Amino acid sequence: MDTLAGLERTHSCGTITGQQAEQEVVLCGWVARRRDHGGLIFVDLRDRSGLVQVVFSSEMDKNAFSKAESLRTEFVIAVRGTVKLRAEETVNLNMPTGQIEVYCVELRILNKAKTPPFYIQDNIDVDETLRLKYRYLDLRRPEMQRNLMLRHRVTKVMRDFFDRNGFVEVETPMLMKSSPEGARDYLVPSRVNPGKFFALPQSPQLFKQILMVAGMERYFQIVRCFRDEDLRADRQPEFTQLDIEMSFIDREEILNMMEEMTVELFRESIGAEVKRPFLRLSYEDAMDRYGSDKPDLRFDMELFNLSQAVKGSDFKVFESVLEAGGQVKAINVKGYANIPRRELDGLVDYVSIYGAKGLAWICYTADGIKSPIAKFFSNEIMDNITAAAKAETGDLILIIADKPNVVAQALGQLRLEMAKRLNLIDPDKLSFLWVVDFPMFEYDEEAKRWVAMHHPFTSPRDEDIEFLETEPGRIKAKAYDMVLNGTEIGGGSIRIYNRELQERVFQAIGLTEEEAKAKFGYLLDAFEYGTPPHGGIAFGLDRLVMLMAKRNSIRDVIAFPKTQSATDIMTQAPSEVSPEQLKELHIRPAAIAKKQ
Ligand code: AMO
Ligand code: AMP
Repeated sequence: MDTLAGLERTHSCGTITGQQAEQEVVLCGWVARRRDHGGLIFVDLRDRSGLVQVVFSSEMDKNAFSKAESLRTEFVIAVRGTVKLRAEETVNLNMPTGQIEVYCVELRILNKAKTPPFYIQDNIDVDETLRLKYRYLDLRRPEMQRNLMLRHRVTKVMRDFFDRNGFVEVETPMLMKSSPEGARDYLVPSRVNPGKFFALPQSPQLFKQILMVAGMERYFQIVRCFRDEDLRADRQPEFTQLDIEMSFIDREEILNMMEEMTVELFRESIGAEVKRPFLRLSYEDAMDRYGSDKPDLRFDMELFNLSQAVKGSDFKVFESVLEAGGQVKAINVKGYANIPRRELDGLVDYVSIYGAKGLAWICYTADGIKSPIAKFFSNEIMDNITAAAKAETGDLILIIADKPNVVAQALGQLRLEMAKRLNLIDPDKLSFLWVVDFPMFEYDEEAKRWVAMHHPFTSPRDEDIEFLETEPGRIKAKAYDMVLNGTEIGGGSIRIYNRELQERVFQAIGLTEEEAKAKFGYLLDAFEYGTPPHGGIAFGLDRLVMLMAKRNSIRDVIAFPKTQSATDIMTQAPSEVSPEQLKELHIRPAAIAKKQ
């Protein structure tokens, strides 16, 4: 093996252009591809910046040429050579460096490589498990390197923005008090305090509020958060937030500033122009019109209510749902009246995943209306439906009758599914909106109590406070979410800043005075020492970068993510630990205890 001694890298592979023609360069990188053409060997050399073609010829340098014969993909090499403009007919327009090539006069093989288990290139079709096991090879692929570099750019733009606007980045503890609200905590046993545990932060929520009590006025942090919850494509057990808190502000001020930040972020990191102000929808409208509190507004297909239109029909299902206080709602899938029967049957199964007990349809075909439920409707009711649905020849109406929350969920998902199937979503569109006026509480049927919809430190609207003890269900919160293309990318609220109101909210979610004190006494105490009005928000950094990079999974923008089952395949974590380690931590796990 050769060394680098005496050779100094002068250029990056991907940045060489005709301007360097006839210049000598020294390049380092990995062999992406080698082609043997008798007396000529071509190597695509790759580093972080891209690829360049290197030519070895027995005429240029015999030694380098014979060494080049032993090159295999992913060998690490250094090359000294001269940049040459390519002849017209050999220019490669698919390659940024396709105008030139480098004629090698000295080759050093710095390291060998085994044959990788998959190709180091974009758009590979490989099981993700394999990619995660060999993450160092996966991350060598240009698209993954671009993702990580984009992520770097994004955090840099954020830090610059907040710095310029008078925010201070303050670190908050990773080992903190457990107070599970929302997701499960990740716990860390304390060796020096037998039987006691820290929790990893689900978010720095209370620390950032306490920083406001402490007079920091404007705080931000790019911070890791941990939540032991069921994982999905846009959820990881550890993820990163851009966390923000400000004193002496109202909702308008923070929404405006976050819009400004977003515009700058998209312009500076991906060159996209985002228009302000962002659309705002109340939670109620979002649920009503799109069946979702994070609607994808890149396409229309709104839900509409047929409850009035179908009232009094002979269709028992609709009548009984309406009598029980339910709804009949529908979407109009424009121009899809000729949907195959088999696909319709499949849609019934699809909505059943979301709890719908059935799906009715009306096809407005050129030969008239086709529908299994038309026979239950008078002409007048059918006309009402057609009018309410704004249906025209060619349209397909899909109808669900159920409890409002089931209708919203099932029809909201169906709306997304139909848009995907019919290609109605423009992947280049950026559709931002704020969802505001969330309910303060939702009823947890299992726990039989009210729980905070955002978190219990969120302020109720002033005009609703009087209903805290009597009608928690009607209270709206000063909470807001930023939504991009159907993904919740951020959420926050104006906070409670007085002890008495905070205690009343704790009570409303079923915490006794003692429980509230034990869990959040330090916050309640702090509130008594001059707490400024404050509010904030946190963005999901991974989700933001995922959307910017047009990926479907946040795992693609995290260097070392966990699998769906919360494991790290490369390092094999979590793993068993030695009995000595456990003993030190005063832990006797069930499995070990059983063996004894
Ligand atoms: P919230 O719980 O809404 O608010 O989180 C803020 C944002 O973080 C992202 N996010 C996640 N991203 C990846 N994986 C996860 N498991 C995950 N969970 C959440 C989402 C979400 O919008 N302290 C409050 C914020 C505040 O009130 O200021 C909070 O954590 O994009
Ligand atoms: P049935 O007469 O029960 O076979 O139902 C006739 C049609 O109504 C079928 O296409 C069912 O899928 C549909 N249907 C049944 N229940 C519902 C419901 N809750 N909402 C919408 N459509 C339904």
